[in-house]
Amino acid sequence: PQDLTELEQSCDTLRQKISSNPKLANPRVMIICGSGLGGIASVLDPVDKIEVLYSEIPGFRSSTVPGHAGKLVFGLIGPNKVPVMCMVGRLHYYEGYSFDDTTFPIRVASLLGITTCIVTNAAGGLNSSYSPGHLMIINDHINLPGLAGAHPLRGPNMDLFGPRFLPTSDAYDLELRKLFVRVSREQLKLTRPIHEGTYAFVLGPTFESRAESRLLRTLGADAVGMSTVAEVIVARHSGLKVLALSLITNAVVTNPPASVWDEKPVPLDQGMASHAEVLEAADEASKDVQKIIELVVNEL
Ligand code: 6GU
Repeated sequence: PQDLTELEQSCDTLRQKISSNPKLANPRVMIICGSGLGGIASVLDPVDKIEVLYSEIPGFRSSTVPGHAGKLVFGLIGPNKVPVMCMVGRLHYYEGYSFDDTTFPIRVASLLGITTCIVTNAAGGLNSSYSPGHLMIINDHINLPGLAGAHPLRGPNMDLFGPRFLPTSDAYDLELRKLFVRVSREQLKLTRPIHEGTYAFVLGPTFESRAESRLLRTLGADAVGMSTVAEVIVARHSGLKVLALSLITNAVVTNPPASVWDEKPVPLDQGMASHAEVLEAADEASKDVQKIIELVVNEL
């Protein structure tokens, strides 16, 4: 579990910073920006905006991944001026942090009075009908590390936040998912394909081997990524409603590798996932994601 004193210090530090602007003082929504999705913070009204670097906040660790600068941005979204807290740059377990570190900001958000958490990520598509640039609303997950012993709620339960035995069968709020679709299709008239599916959480930092990808697909996963599920679990444990979105950045390779018996071997780099590819696909689709999230939050 996280250290409660440290969580409270962190919360006090943020309260102090945002109390200078009464409009920002009571954020209701937390938005976690995934790889290449930091642009979501740009929909915040620049007039009322406060940025706080993770390095200025007690208990916050700093992100080490390219494309994941570490700061909280407090601001207002949409005509209704909904006060939000954006996490630009999330922490990953593969960086060497514990789940207590990576989910620390969620606990702080809960102490700040935030009631809804919107989580975004870049993910690999396992479902054969998914292509780069498609969106997937997460409606279920496979917490592989959790099932195998690396679970964010392992250890003494933080009774102050939630129960020892948390159900996760209802983690992804149906009304928020419906709102997402309504906003995209009816208000924005976007044609970008939107799926609904199961996200498999793997620790990374390697992209999956072909056999691992087949394994995940067989298990029923539609997309795979290295984040989100620990945050979602801690958010649910803290009583927050959750909306989670995957931006499909690449198709995961599931066919077997080139064989020594092939007449004409497949070039080695064909179908290989890369971080550059992930960021490129995210860049294109992120404009749509920004617009959708802006209007979704406006309705909250
Ligand atoms: Cl292919 N795998 C994982 N684990 N994470 C990803 C990804 C693939 N593409 C984007 N994020």
